[in-house]
Amino acid sequence: MGFCPSMLTVSRRGKYVLALLLCLSALAWIATYKWDTARASHGHPVTLRIPVKGDGSQVDLRQERVSPEVVSSGRMPKALCPESSPLLYGALKLSFEPSLTLKEVANENSVVAEGQYQPPECTARQSVAILVPQRSREKHLLYLLHHLHPFLQRQQLHYTIYVIQQAGDATFNRAKLLNVGYLEAQKDHDWDCFIFHDVDLVPENDNNLYMCDSQPKHMVVGRNATGYKLRYKGYFGGVTALTKDQFKRVNGFPNTYWGWGGEDDDLRIRVELQGMKIVRPPSKVARYTMVFHKRDSGNKVNNDRMRLLGRTPKVWQKDGLNSCSYKTLSVERQPLYVNITADIGTPPRH
Ligand SMILES: *[C@@H]1O[C@H](CO)[C@@H](O)[C@H](O)[C@H]1NC(C)=O
Repeated sequence: MGFCPSMLTVSRRGKYVLALLLCLSALAWIATYKWDTARASHGHPVTLRIPVKGDGSQVDLRQERVSPEVVSSGRMPKALCPESSPLLYGALKLSFEPSLTLKEVANENSVVAEGQYQPPECTARQSVAILVPQRSREKHLLYLLHHLHPFLQRQQLHYTIYVIQQAGDATFNRAKLLNVGYLEAQKDHDWDCFIFHDVDLVPENDNNLYMCDSQPKHMVVGRNATGYKLRYKGYFGGVTALTKDQFKRVNGFPNTYWGWGGEDDDLRIRVELQGMKIVRPPSKVARYTMVFHKRDSGNKVNNDRMRLLGRTPKVWQKDGLNSCSYKTLSVERQPLYVNITADIGTPPRH
């Protein structure tokens, strides 16, 4: 064979060297592979960014067909997270340091980008949008972000925190802001579950799962301010969890409650009219700390609430998600949350 005479005349030693090299590279390959999978399954050092499609929407890892390139790049769909997260602590010790800064909270949560997080170790069981209506409560928001981000990460959820700010200084309208939050969040992702969350309530136990149930869920059985008792039978305020379908079925919140109170009872009536039943976690778990504050001047008690509640059965189909008109003034994607500022109008004059 004139093809490669020198190869044939290469000494035996040359062949051994070649075989040895092959062997070594195989070993090296196996070692890196093992190290990679070990790292991925132990979570923390690996951060997973959610792939984004060309139109800016996110790829739902559970629905997307997986191409060989994705597999070889290591972004394989992971097994579903366990039903009970191994990362939960139970009762937490909360702190409210007056010196806390947004920068510190961002540094503690470098795994969060634009308010969003996905567990790196598994595929979350639910994708959850946390909606927090707010106006001039920056300190409360900071405390909430500080506690809520690690809390939700330990629950192995895919989530984003949305803060919905009411522009201007007309009377506050929590319910309408929550409708806005729902409508805006749905543009980012097809969320499974929505948590409607007051800015001044911090959960005390991470067994209080921020996930939706087959029925609308009320998460606040007790708060430190009321001796951890349900405020009244039927109370459905503070923090509630409804699936996309449950929320659509009730036509969302009413848009017509300006000022403090009533809108949570209205949502309860809507839920009951649909034959749904409110569920609550055990009272040991559904505990919150209410961060102290005075009632804002822009959020005076809504004295019209009893009259409004009386007409809910007649008007719920006309007053809700389907009639929520507003103008989005800005959507800022900050490190720890998506900040939506909306002009939601002013209360009608009587
Ligand atoms: C509840 O706890 C918060 C935070 O420690 C505190 O600011 C507030 O005063 C407490 N409320 C009551 C009624 O104990």
